[in-house]
Amino acid sequence: MLKKVLITGANSGLGKESARQLAEDPTIEKIYLGCRNKKKAMEAKKELESVTGRKIFEIIMIDVSNLDSVRHVVDHMKEPIDGIVMNAGGFGGSDFMSLTPEGTTRIYAVNVLGHAMLLERLLEQSKLTSVGIFVGTEVSRGVKGMAKRPELKQGSVGEFTSIANGTFWEKDITDAMIPYGYVKLMGVMWMSSLARKYPKVRLLSMSPGGTAGTEGTSSMPTFKRMFTKSLFEVSVLLGKMHRVDVGARRYIDGLTDLRYKSAVFYASKKGVTGDVGDQGMIFDVFNNKTFQDNARKAVLSYIRH
Ligand SMILES: NC(=O)c1ccc[n+]([C@@H]2O[C@H](COP(=O)([O-])OP(=O)(O)OC[C@H]3O[C@@H](n4cnc5c(N)ncnc54)[C@H](OP(=O)(O)O)[C@@H]3O)[C@@H](O)[C@H]2O)c1
Repeated sequence: MLKKVLITGANSGLGKESARQLAEDPTIEKIYLGCRNKKKAMEAKKELESVTGRKIFEIIMIDVSNLDSVRHVVDHMKEPIDGIVMNAGGFGGSDFMSLTPEGTTRIYAVNVLGHAMLLERLLEQSKLTSVGIFVGTEVSRGVKGMAKRPELKQGSVGEFTSIANGTFWEKDITDAMIPYGYVKLMGVMWMSSLARKYPKVRLLSMSPGGTAGTEGTSSMPTFKRMFTKSLFEVSVLLGKMHRVDVGARRYIDGLTDLRYKSAVFYASKKGVTGDVGDQGMIFDVFNNKTFQDNARKAVLSYIRH
């Protein structure tokens, strides 16, 4: 039974909505809101307390692109948590290909770098008892008319390292959607490898699907942001995307429904909405254990010095 759950990126969008939905379960005793901005975190906590009528939310200040911040959170955690949703992330801001002090791109750092340290460290210190979810995206298996399927040449440690540090791409990248699919794919592969190392904890990846009404477009230039938001709204009306309650429900299902198996990446069976299914049935790279282990080796090379 889940009693204590940490959600990263919990002050907006899917993270905040999943905290709200989780609080509907009376057996949940504590929801840790993992946020990097104190003001936004406090506003979210106040709103969540008001809409749920429960005072079970606690803020944890964490920047998942900063390893010191992540290390501090895990090492100061006094009691284990039962579940974690690694939801923080997105396109990594306007300078998404610039490098962090560790030498990874920002888009990699916000999605994978800190989450990798967070989960690996929680498990090493026996501070996660039941379930961990890495938030993926359908972009990692390609979406017709929206994003080309990522192409791995060898699935080697070197290739995954080049995805993390941006050298995978020879030309300047101006569209964040390109590295986004690859870095999320790398996160998914790392999760599957880690899941085989810790068989007693359910570790899976879940995409919320195409979700309108979040802040995910906020770092886009004004015109592109307005266009994308309108496109999302039309897509919802056409039944090709969904709203945030539907996307967040997928996290709750992943957390609570034991039919969602460890080491699997779940996302929409078709397009970016509707029923979810094992993405290894669509893109068999996700099933390649050698690639998974190589992804984890590359991930670890940036968090273990
Ligand atoms: N919306 C979609 O269609 C969709 C589809 C597939 C996957 N996803 C994934 O779903 C997740 C949530 O996205 P969303 O659409 O709900 O967007 P969102 O509303 O922008 O939420 C992202 C959250 O992540 C936080 N965050 C970003 N970088 C962080 C960092 N370095 N440290 C700590 N927190 C950080 C943000 O905090 P601030 O407010 O401080 O920026 C925000 O709370 C992302 O991982 C995204 O890639 C979204």
